[in-house]
Amino acid sequence: MGQLENKTALITGGTTGIGFATAQRFVEEGAQVFITGRREPELNAAVAALGDRASGIRGDVSDLDDLDRIFSVVASAGKDLDVLFVNAGGGGFATLEQLTPEAFDQTFGVNVRGTVFTVQKALPMLADHASVIITGSNASSKGNPAFGVYAATKAALRSFTRTWAAELAGRHIRVNTIAPGPTDTPGLSGLAPDPSQAQGMLDTMAGNVPLGRLARPAEIANAVLFLASDQASYVTGTELFADGGETQV
Ligand SMILES: NC(=O)c1ccc[n+]([C@@H]2O[C@H](COP(=O)([O-])OP(=O)(O)OC[C@H]3O[C@@H](n4cnc5c(N)ncnc54)[C@H](OP(=O)(O)O)[C@@H]3O)[C@@H](O)[C@H]2O)c1
Repeated sequence: MGQLENKTALITGGTTGIGFATAQRFVEEGAQVFITGRREPELNAAVAALGDRASGIRGDVSDLDDLDRIFSVVASAGKDLDVLFVNAGGGGFATLEQLTPEAFDQTFGVNVRGTVFTVQKALPMLADHASVIITGSNASSKGNPAFGVYAATKAALRSFTRTWAAELAGRHIRVNTIAPGPTDTPGLSGLAPDPSQAQGMLDTMAGNVPLGRLARPAEIANAVLFLASDQASYVTGTELFADGGETQV
């Protein structure tokens, strides 16, 4: 018997990286999984790899019409959501001096606005005792130069986690943040200014982690599974760091 047998989960940004690894883990544990992403080929490839317990819905989480469409597809399946993993997001490097209003709006639009309205629109579909997991970042607890806007978006999500945990406790819905450290995904390599510099950037990041390496996406997925499962039945409002100790020691 899997830990998520007979459960239905929605994972935003489930086509690559942490979201895809989590979709794989959830399917292994018996869940029916909906995944979202903007790029159709990546979405189709991910669904094909996950097998017949997975469905894909294309959409941009910063677009409210897309969110409505995503939830109407989920609703048409006729099942409440037991797990909502709000994971779509990303960012880029810019110092305060380099920052443009467009980059600020784009990062807050996807990471904060996208997350807030994903959770709001999911509310009618969340089962009692559901688990909501928000992808934060350990970057929100640090002062990495040129990562301020991204870090601030994730700090906002950590704050919303506390409020939503309180607001939804009456429905026995738990809300938690997962805070990954540097994790080997296309999103992380994509932060390098050009591909030839990616390995050097990843090596430097790994060197800052006490465990001396990047996380594998599957390791973050295991921590998300814990928060999604009944093993975390008394855990709400918290931030679980899966960061190799980077912000802890
Ligand atoms: N990798 C790390 O080191 C790390 C560390 C801490 C936190 N995180 C967080 O973990 C989450 C996943 O990142 P990742 O590293 O796994 O990156 P990734 O491999 O680039 O995956 C990002 C996923 O989100 C989707 N996505 C991005 N923007 C979207 C949008 N506006 N609407 C809908 N889907 C969108 C992507 O698909 P499309 O591009 O096709 O839309 C993809 O499925 C992000 O929230 C990121 O901030 C990552």
